[in-house]
Amino acid sequence: MTNYLPVPKPVEASGSEPEIFHGKKILVIDDDKTICVLICEYLGKLGMDCLWTSVPRTAVEWIQEKEFDVILTDIYMPEISGHDILSLALAQLPHTPVILMTGNPSLHNTIEAIRLGAYDYLTKPFKMNVVEMTLGRALHYRKLVMENLAYQNHLEIQVQERTRELSDFLFHAVQSLSLALEARDPYTQGHGYRVGELVVKLAGELGVAEEEHQALRLASQLHDIGKIGIPDSILLKPGKLTTTEYDLMKDHVFIGYHILSPIPSLKEVSRYVYEHHERMDGKGYPRGLAGSDIHVNSRILMVSEVYDALATERTYKPAWPLRKIRDYFLEQAGTAYDPDVVNALLSLLDKEGEEILKLFQGGFS
Ligand SMILES: [Fe+2]
Repeated sequence: MTNYLPVPKPVEASGSEPEIFHGKKILVIDDDKTICVLICEYLGKLGMDCLWTSVPRTAVEWIQEKEFDVILTDIYMPEISGHDILSLALAQLPHTPVILMTGNPSLHNTIEAIRLGAYDYLTKPFKMNVVEMTLGRALHYRKLVMENLAYQNHLEIQVQERTRELSDFLFHAVQSLSLALEARDPYTQGHGYRVGELVVKLAGELGVAEEEHQALRLASQLHDIGKIGIPDSILLKPGKLTTTEYDLMKDHVFIGYHILSPIPSLKEVSRYVYEHHERMDGKGYPRGLAGSDIHVNSRILMVSEVYDALATERTYKPAWPLRKIRDYFLEQAGTAYDPDVVNALLSLLDKEGEEILKLFQGGFS
């Protein structure tokens, strides 16, 4: 357990209250009260805060409730042995060294104690300066462990910060891409943002894990990014598209997928983008996927995207009133759209209708 750690320097002589001892919380457990009192009196003089008990059951409660810097425990005690105490301490206080004590020394016992995870082993009767030396080593060990933990936590915080910075950068880059499309096609202005707001609300309603919300928001902003590759004559055509033109327009999911899928962190996003025109009945495009073959997040994106298209005014249609939108989704639930997502949308509209109205800013009344 301790092999990889440097051997600490010997502690100062007794009575000098070195820094390493000061205020440290030590638990002493022995069914012989005299030993507990002797040890704690000595450790108190060294500036340590020593708590002792001759009842192992009490020690079990304390280990579950309190923090200790070092635990010293007798091995042979009625009901609960020092090995049991050691196992509990390793589980509850994994950074607290445990020193076992026994008046029945043997090589086998020593090896067994270390094998079970004890920091060290004291043989009774012991001299107090030996207890002091052993405790000093244990406290140095704990100090190193705690410093190492603090260092690891600091590193983890730094990694989290860098990851967040990268994620923010990615999000802003995506917004720029989305704005590039909106600059070409004014009818999509604000569409990605609104879909993103709704998609996250729906994901929350459906219990989608929070870690997936960011990918959903990005997919909302980028679902039509492939339209960048569609000619102006089709993308900006005011009238109805011919069958050939419509077929070309459908390529936007394919183009979007090929723009996004080479970016490792957008792998999932590219899948949602690829699937956002599939239908539950398999009559969508590009692959005619059906039911659960379509990712649930793609199904959420589909509903959010269509909701925005219906709820906002376009050159070819006015904004639909809320009742008409509800009827449309109810009618299409199970054929075009996932009925669970439709139910989540309707319940969201019941709960947050006013808030969602604000989001779509007069899109319907
Ligand atoms: Fe689309």
